[in-house]
Amino acid sequence: MELFTPKEIVQELDKYIIGQAEAKKSVAVALRNRYRRSRLDDKTREEITPKNIIMKGPTGVGKTEIARRLAKLVKAPLVKVEATKFTEVGYVGRDVESMVRDLVEAAIRLVREERYEELKPRATQAAVDKLVKVIMPIRKELSPDTPEAQLAESISEELVDGKLDEMQIEIEVAEPQRPIQMMQNGQGAEINLGDIFKQMGGNKPKKKRKLYVKDAMRMLVLEESDKLIDSDSVNAEALRRAEQEGIIFIDEIDKIAGAGVGSSRGGPDVSREGVQRDILPIVEGCTVSTKYGSIRTDFILFIAAGAFHVSEVKDLIPELQGRFPVVVTLDSLTKEDFVRILTEPSNALLKMYTALLKVDGVELKFTKEAIERIAEMASFENTNSENIGARRLHSLIEKLLTEVSYEAHGEKVDLVVDKAYVDSHLANEYMDLDLKRYII
Ligand SMILES: Nc1ncnc2c1ncn2[C@@H]1O[C@H](COP(=O)(O)OP(=O)(O)OP(=O)(O)O)[C@@H](O)[C@H]1O
Ligand SMILES: [Mg+2]
Repeated sequence: MELFTPKEIVQELDKYIIGQAEAKKSVAVALRNRYRRSRLDDKTREEITPKNIIMKGPTGVGKTEIARRLAKLVKAPLVKVEATKFTEVGYVGRDVESMVRDLVEAAIRLVREERYEELKPRATQAAVDKLVKVIMPIRKELSPDTPEAQLAESISEELVDGKLDEMQIEIEVAEPQRPIQMMQNGQGAEINLGDIFKQMGGNKPKKKRKLYVKDAMRMLVLEESDKLIDSDSVNAEALRRAEQEGIIFIDEIDKIAGAGVGSSRGGPDVSREGVQRDILPIVEGCTVSTKYGSIRTDFILFIAAGAFHVSEVKDLIPELQGRFPVVVTLDSLTKEDFVRILTEPSNALLKMYTALLKVDGVELKFTKEAIERIAEMASFENTNSENIGARRLHSLIEKLLTEVSYEAHGEKVDLVVDKAYVDSHLANEYMDLDLKRYII
């Protein structure tokens, strides 16, 4: 399982998310606890269930981003679902058990990828052998006196070195599989045509096709891996991983929390509570059957997130609250945070725009004062109109650079964005800012 210590997890998250130390720490600890648990003897392990987490905090401060980065970081099956997508049993919409089925699918993909990686050398060798057979007759014609073994060796060398990539050959390959989605009462059940053919005892349909060697190689490696892979063991391992290490991130949980201020009484709330009641057994621990077998949900880690500005955590039904013992609050972002968000993360907005425009010859530079100014405007706008957190920066930067983005066409230009540039290009925001100051 994941080998990161809590500190390392936080460090990794720090590369992308500014601040929010408390939330980062909680998820890091929860993750590490799963690892600790996995090291215990069976009996003790059965007794320890995860400490589920609720992340609450205003819009656009990094809740979803933390989950997204976490997913990339850990080698555990993780799915992210939106609470609003679910409806009570019997209504149109997704049933809550689908989140567990999605988790199993994620685990299958994870384990499959690992197995493919392990099998790659063998599958590649098998693919090379097949291609050698296809190319052999052509080579034989060219040099009839060379012994076959020698020809085979040189063909296989050239194949491995990619020297034959652009050669065209005709070869029989399996038809690409296309899973088709069947919807039954809103429950997505996926049926794979390939599976059906396998069950019918036949092989996947094959077809002769003209292909470049490099594409044929790719397809054959896949085909060979499919032959070598042991689906039963993949399924069993995936079920185990989903059950023991799975993480389900439920976003927008506040949207299904009880009667919020201003929401109409009756109608929608009834079904919201219904969704909570449906989710409850899954969080409490139950058995869900999937097409790969059944899975217990007792040890899945649930992380829920919501802005909770209309409703509160205590508006959730008590039983559900009880299953989320850790509640962490994410902070509103300040001007100083915005300066850092603009510049520090590996995917910082200013870095991204600079890279994008560089493609068209524009060398963008931002002065320190300009960055401070943008942050100040973002912070001002958030306090004085709607608080949309870091999303405000996206709209400001987009506006700031509209003109240059439109004009850039490949000619080399140096552009220094200084405070004056910001002020003139974000004139409306600027006027508001100074006006408000003047009034105050
Ligand atoms: N603390 C932060 N550090 C860096 N980037 C951030 C931070 N908070 C938000 N962002 C950026 O702002 C955008 C919105 O953030 P995110 O999706 O995490 O919001 P959220 O907290 O889930 O809000 P909502 O409640 O509306 O779902 C993302 O592009 C994210 O990268
Ligand atoms: Mg979100």
